[in-house]
Amino acid sequence: MTAADSEPTGPTVSRGAEATLRRVEWMGLPALLKERETKSYRAKALDERLRRERTRTEARLLVDARKLGVRTPMVYDVDLPRHRLVLEQLAGPTLRELLENLELPLATLEGALRRLGEGLGRLHAGGISHGDLTSSNVLFPDGPDGPPAFLDLSMGSRSPGLEELGIDLHLVEEDVKSLHDAADALVRAFHEGYALGNPHGAKDVRARAKAIRGRVRYA
Ligand SMILES: Nc1ncnc2c1ncn2[C@@H]1O[C@H](COP(=O)(O)OP(=O)(O)O)[C@@H](O)[C@H]1O
Ligand SMILES: [Mg+2]
Repeated sequence: MTAADSEPTGPTVSRGAEATLRRVEWMGLPALLKERETKSYRAKALDERLRRERTRTEARLLVDARKLGVRTPMVYDVDLPRHRLVLEQLAGPTLRELLENLELPLATLEGALRRLGEGLGRLHAGGISHGDLTSSNVLFPDGPDGPPAFLDLSMGSRSPGLEELGIDLHLVEEDVKSLHDAADALVRAFHEGYALGNPHGAKDVRARAKAIRGRVRYA
């Protein structure tokens, strides 16, 4: 079976700026069909190329990240002409949901941020940037005490420069600060984890993230 066969009959899970996700079954397994929609404001040829490239990049990076021991949904199928991926459906709250859950003990959240940092560090040390690391693009399939899974890697890179790595760090820091009162402790945990995952690069990447923060603030 290919993504072309699996007509998206299931309920829509999410409709974002770029893509629609629908619940489907793939070989009897619960899955999500992610389809990049056409954007009428783009010239047709460009639109076609962008949707295809982002679908391809996302599939590649999801698979490459897994090889580094970083959790991502399995890619069950790729249908480039139709800009579709069939992805393993993971359970769990997003990072955003964790940060917004007022009942979670701070220590639990710190653990989650530490593991997120470690996972991101491993991704970076393996030569992959995420490219769109918002708190909705991280899931905790086993709950806040388990490892994070990274979603939505279509803006990522296989040969990232320091700037791209710094932006990944910066985006997490900004989301934590905007969503939680104890942001300092959580960002600290995130940095500790990051240094474990990316021991050689952590210092430079953190310095770049700090420079980006300064630039954004005084822009
Ligand atoms: N494999 C998955 N398992 C479970 N939920 C997912 C999965 N992929 C995406 N989601 C959910 O759908 C939302 C949107 O998916 P995402 O891949 O980030 O698309 P978009 O490009 O529209 O942001 C995510 O924030 C997450 O809540
Ligand atoms: Mg997303």
